[in-house]
Amino acid sequence: MIIAFDGHSSTGKSSLAKEIAKHYHFIHLDSGALYRTITFITILENKSFDELLDENYCIPFLTVKCDDNELSIFYKNQKLESQLRTQEVNSKVSKIASQPRVRDYVTSLIRETLKDKSVVADGRDIGTEVFPNSDLKFFITAKPEIRSKRRFLEVQASGGNSSLESIHQNLMDRDKIDSSREVAPLRVAEDAIFIDNTFLTKEETFILVKSYIDRKIEDISE
Ligand code: DC
Repeated sequence: MIIAFDGHSSTGKSSLAKEIAKHYHFIHLDSGALYRTITFITILENKSFDELLDENYCIPFLTVKCDDNELSIFYKNQKLESQLRTQEVNSKVSKIASQPRVRDYVTSLIRETLKDKSVVADGRDIGTEVFPNSDLKFFITAKPEIRSKRRFLEVQASGGNSSLESIHQNLMDRDKIDSSREVAPLRVAEDAIFIDNTFLTKEETFILVKSYIDRKIEDISE
């Protein structure tokens, strides 16, 4: 079974997908982390994406493993986590993710790594491009001001000091690039369930999504 969560930045879709995956014992894929990984490595190595690739169309020393129902990403034996969430990566990732060759690389990597597995995947193009035959597709959004405020509170809680204005600007810039790029732009799939969680708590969003999934599982098993 494949469940796709696409939508805008800072709508809580990645934490939601993670909780849903945990609940149903599926693998969780945060596809944004893969775009962030490429961005991180290009910054670290000071190379373009094409310069990172070897003759086998691989990035040397990059490994993606599936453990504990999550994908773990390692570069040069170091697990990548907080390095992917810096302001520098935030400000560059959408541009890198708009390159057709980068999208091709990430899409192939996802399909190969998750072949034959039950997956809850989140991103911008999961239901439209990566897994168009997903069993269920959700599109998650919320008002921009609410998303910026949620992100601001998260950054503050983790000790960061970015201003609300700079976070809002970064979100707006990313929305614009993600929605207007030529390849696989962020859009609502025709068969997606649209959820605006501006006025919903995390728990309410989870319960709503779970009700659709439970119904789908019942339909499949009938
Ligand atoms: O979900 P996120 O904020 O971690 O994603 C980081 C960036 O990666 C986002 O600005 C757009 C890009 N992305 C994408 O283009 N396609 C995906 N499936 C996931 C993320």
